[in-house]
Amino acid sequence: MAETSPVPPAADARRSFLAKLMAVVGGGIASLTPVAAGVWMTLDPLRRKSSAAAFLPITDIASVPDDGVPRQFPVIADRTDAWTGFAAEPIGAVYLRREADSDTVEAFSATCPHAGCFIELDKRDRCFRCPCHNSSFTLDGGIVSPSPSPRTMDTLECEVHDGRVRVKWENFYSGIAEKVARP
Ligand code: FES
Repeated sequence: MAETSPVPPAADARRSFLAKLMAVVGGGIASLTPVAAGVWMTLDPLRRKSSAAAFLPITDIASVPDDGVPRQFPVIADRTDAWTGFAAEPIGAVYLRREADSDTVEAFSATCPHAGCFIELDKRDRCFRCPCHNSSFTLDGGIVSPSPSPRTMDTLECEVHDGRVRVKWENFYSGIAEKVARP
């Protein structure tokens, strides 16, 4: 009867090492799965795209003087940071303007296209001014030269329904000649 040859010690040690290695790798993969899921859940708000531009209620049309002089209004909306929601907070400001006996309302963003400062209305000189680098704009948003702003004030889509004024609120990239909405 043939005798089975004993397993050489070196081969036995190698088999034992491979078994341990497989156990460690398998255990590692199993423990990484919940960690990866946790990271995915934690970063979820960062993965979400910001919501598309939406029409937001601003005011009653009666509150917009029909004398061609713009008036400033806050833009109020629910806001969401990466992990936190804030209900009904100011997220920006618009200037609304309408001519005499007109129900047509023009809307301009109060954010300066040059570098994003807040544009102020100069009622005495009947123009807009940006205090940061002295850009000036006409009451209908055009540039008064010389001004560092690369474009006119940013107009916003505006609609009036049942006496309520709503504006499509968007932010635009500053410092460039084209009006390009931020995503
Ligand atoms: S930010 Fe308005 S002029 Fe520079």
